[in-house]
Amino acid sequence: MSLYIIDYEDSISVMQEDFSLNGHLKAKMIIDRDYRLAEINKRIFGSFIEHIGRAVYGGIYDPDHPTADSEGFRKDVIELVKELHPPIIRYPGGNFVSGYNWEDGVGLRKNRKEKLDLAWQTLESNQIGLNEFVRWAKLVDSEVMMAVNLGTRGVDSARELVEYCNHDSGSYWSDLRISHGNRHPHNIRTWCLGNEMDGDWQIGHKTAEEYGRLAQEAAKVMKMVDPGIELVVCGSTNNLTDTFPDWEATVLTHTYDQVEYISLHSYYANSDNDTMNFYAKTLNMDSVIKSVTATCDHIKAKKRSKKTINISFDEWNVWYHSIEETSKIEPWTSRQHYFEENYDLNDAIMVGCMLITLLKNADRVRIACMAQLVNVIAPIMTEDNGRAWKQTIFYPYYHMIRYARGTVLQSVISSSKYDCREFCNVPYLEAVAVHNAGDRDDEVVVFAVNRSTEDSLVLECDMRSFGSCDVSEHIVYEDAGIPHSNGNADTDDGMMRAILGKSSWNVIRIRVDKSEYT
Ligand code: AHR
Repeated sequence: MSLYIIDYEDSISVMQEDFSLNGHLKAKMIIDRDYRLAEINKRIFGSFIEHIGRAVYGGIYDPDHPTADSEGFRKDVIELVKELHPPIIRYPGGNFVSGYNWEDGVGLRKNRKEKLDLAWQTLESNQIGLNEFVRWAKLVDSEVMMAVNLGTRGVDSARELVEYCNHDSGSYWSDLRISHGNRHPHNIRTWCLGNEMDGDWQIGHKTAEEYGRLAQEAAKVMKMVDPGIELVVCGSTNNLTDTFPDWEATVLTHTYDQVEYISLHSYYANSDNDTMNFYAKTLNMDSVIKSVTATCDHIKAKKRSKKTINISFDEWNVWYHSIEETSKIEPWTSRQHYFEENYDLNDAIMVGCMLITLLKNADRVRIACMAQLVNVIAPIMTEDNGRAWKQTIFYPYYHMIRYARGTVLQSVISSSKYDCREFCNVPYLEAVAVHNAGDRDDEVVVFAVNRSTEDSLVLECDMRSFGSCDVSEHIVYEDAGIPHSNGNADTDDGMMRAILGKSSWNVIRIRVDKSEYT
């Protein structure tokens, strides 16, 4: 490993001849074990499955597929989802939920009616409904996050759904669940009060006042049925709408005492192929999180409340490759290729930046869901009658779920910067560090992206607060194949140094000797 010294005030000097610094950018991180931001809530790495395109039918469920189990679930998909292991999965929408009658998807399959899904202009067979989805979620070891329809429906159907899912027995709806073969309650803990109700495309779209009142009453009554549930009220679809952030303020004025979270959604595109501008869009993601947090706290102050509302970032991803193709799909068909993105390395790097942004805000973002999981804007794809495989965006997401454990540290970062079309002073380095206290050794993991598409970046991390440390693995994702573990990170005297290749996603795992500080 090369040795080099970085002078941040000045320039970079090299002590070894085989190490050329031509074209290197530079960045420094101070990672201190006492600068703790938040304990990581694993639900920040959740996912989402909606009834749309081939997410459910042809994705998780395909009774004619050679790998189908006795219930029609594709076992090859189950294996990939288990490998990824998202801890929580939002269901059944999305825009779909705003026109959905949940009763259509329970009971004997042969009696279920085929209906028009107005959100995506498809035919919904209702062969998969909540009981099947709950069973599938158990197979992949994930918790279900359920959304209720506050578009065409309201308080009554929301309370009946909670009773059906969570009440033990002895009432009409709980006994109906039992008669459908589910003796034990599903005990679904987290519920979304509708979806993107601020958008005029939404079935049953409402003003903030109308939605705020409805959500308040639905929330109150749902908690009368099961006081143990927690609720997510709809925030804005994104920060570009005319009503952002007044929507949040009005809705929270009505619902503050009844809910635990407010939702936030963001999708980003590289439609004009300006990749460094694309990577910089997480500055927008960060600023939206800060604005929504500030709005929550403004209402908290107005209400003189002791309670804090956190963020459920329950839809986020890269989305743009497939929009034109999808617009050509014939309406009122089913199992069509809706929004089947073909992701490249740049998209995976952007997903890495988004995951880092979520972690950097882990004190207030307590739930987040990559949208979606299978086929539709998804890390996992399937062929009808064929294989299931991983897209590029699978990898950073997988690394985060696997290695981002313990405490997020509030790192101090200084980095070379650039200006681009939409942003100024964008740090080339996007990074975050976590401290995972193990039984024997502790581990610090640095997740880092070099946003430059031209030059590599020299990263130096001051980790002296941890005493002695040692790199155990440096995973790099830098071409659209699969990631490798041949990164160059090394440590010397409490300093960790690495050269991050252009447009690269890096996971640097560092063993620290806890006997030196405990
Ligand atoms: O995830 C796809 C769609 O994007 C969801 O249905 C909707 O909530 C969002 O606009």
